[in-house]
Amino acid sequence: MGDHATSAPAATAHAAHESFAQRLLTGSVKKSYDPVVDLDWDAPLDPDKLFLPPEVISLYGTPLWDAMTPEQRRELSREELANVLSVGIWFENLLNRLLLRELMAGDPTSRHAHYTLTEMGDECRHMMMFGKLIDRIGARPYWPNRFERWTISGLQLVLRGSMVWVGALVGEEIFDAIQRRTLDDPDLQPLVARAMRIHVTEEARHIGFARDALAHRVPTMSRAELHYTRLCVAVAAPLFVYLMTNWHMYARAGVEHGRAARRLARANPHSRRALGLGAANLGAFLDKQGLIGPIGTRIWRRRGLL
Ligand SMILES: [Fe+2]
Ligand SMILES: [Fe+2]
Repeated sequence: MGDHATSAPAATAHAAHESFAQRLLTGSVKKSYDPVVDLDWDAPLDPDKLFLPPEVISLYGTPLWDAMTPEQRRELSREELANVLSVGIWFENLLNRLLLRELMAGDPTSRHAHYTLTEMGDECRHMMMFGKLIDRIGARPYWPNRFERWTISGLQLVLRGSMVWVGALVGEEIFDAIQRRTLDDPDLQPLVARAMRIHVTEEARHIGFARDALAHRVPTMSRAELHYTRLCVAVAAPLFVYLMTNWHMYARAGVEHGRAARRLARANPHSRRALGLGAANLGAFLDKQGLIGPIGTRIWRRRGLL
């Protein structure tokens, strides 16, 4: 809170915001993980099990998928997992940069600041867990080239204020929905299921925090910020679909004609449904906050996200 006098409703909202952050801090003390010791990195991989559940694999249900041998499907699941984890790493890298910057504009004694720091610590461990997992499953990361790295760094300049939270939610909630489908799948590699379980637990707090921060901010937004936020919401979803169907993963998995496979994946109603389920919750929340404008609605619908 600044030095100026604040209205009673604003003070109440601030108190609620702080007590929510305190709850998240308490929850973090009770349940947090250290991927170095909380995962059995030496356990052998199951030679028959997939690395992702079939229904979240981008080609699932297509004629190309139906023609694949179990071994080819397993290979594709390995590469798709490596891609998801790679995108997860650089997304969390960017998020931590944004959060660090936001901290300089806030009160370092607030619970909000303290939970922000806790979340950054979680993300540091997640990036390590994902990196170890890519290595353990015998894959290589899908890493941005120089131009893509510039783009990611450039996002730091445009993502400000409410956009930090929208960006956090789009990344975290869609990933979360994919991960939740991996939790109780007995046909999945146990190491992957365990890593996803850890991630889902800690991300549930991050999602709550971002939703609270966004809901707190919306009533005070200027019209310009509202329009800008809606624009970012509109482009964020297609960007996400684009990243999840990186054509290199088809090439590495030995699927012939990586780009043709990507076209097939992007038009695949099954993977649209999987992503759509992930985005449904988020879409409803953003819509309730008035953050999906007419353009956003059209784009999200076309991608099967609403
Ligand atoms: Fe994370
Ligand atoms: Fe997170």
